[in-house]
Amino acid sequence: MSGTRTFTMIKPDAVKNQHIGPILERITSSGFKIVAMKLTQLSERDASLFYAVHKERPFFSELVDFMTSGPIVAAILEKENAVDDFRMLIGATNPAEAAEGTIRKLFAKSIGENAIHGSDSDENAEIESAFHFSGREQF
Ligand code: CMP
Repeated sequence: MSGTRTFTMIKPDAVKNQHIGPILERITSSGFKIVAMKLTQLSERDASLFYAVHKERPFFSELVDFMTSGPIVAAILEKENAVDDFRMLIGATNPAEAAEGTIRKLFAKSIGENAIHGSDSDENAEIESAFHFSGREQF
């Protein structure tokens, strides 16, 4: 059982394709309460810091390029068991492997352009929420 908050980003592909509304509808109708939300644009520095854990991966520069290619929606969500339930709702990282009815199955094209992010632990939910909503001085 995870805690009561998670962090999400609707990624540039989903924003560009006008999927903000349908994705938020799925999130709220699945019992998540939106407690903070903003439309924003990541700089190269922001994306590099946010994804620093992946910096040695071969896809890192592709990931930073994609995440800075257009606006995103960042949000903090509240629900019992938020991290685990949200990861179920969004589906596998690779949309080809995502279960039917999940957000990535419905809206994502590829493992790189996969429509939505969800924190993978309570600790990261807190770190990622702070990154977007409490300033970046500590990063
Ligand atoms: P997410 O889990 O939100 O955060 C890390 C991201 O890295 C992940 O979504 C994918 O979009 C991206 N990613 C993971 N594996 C690959 C890959 N093999 N090629 C390109 N991007 C990837």
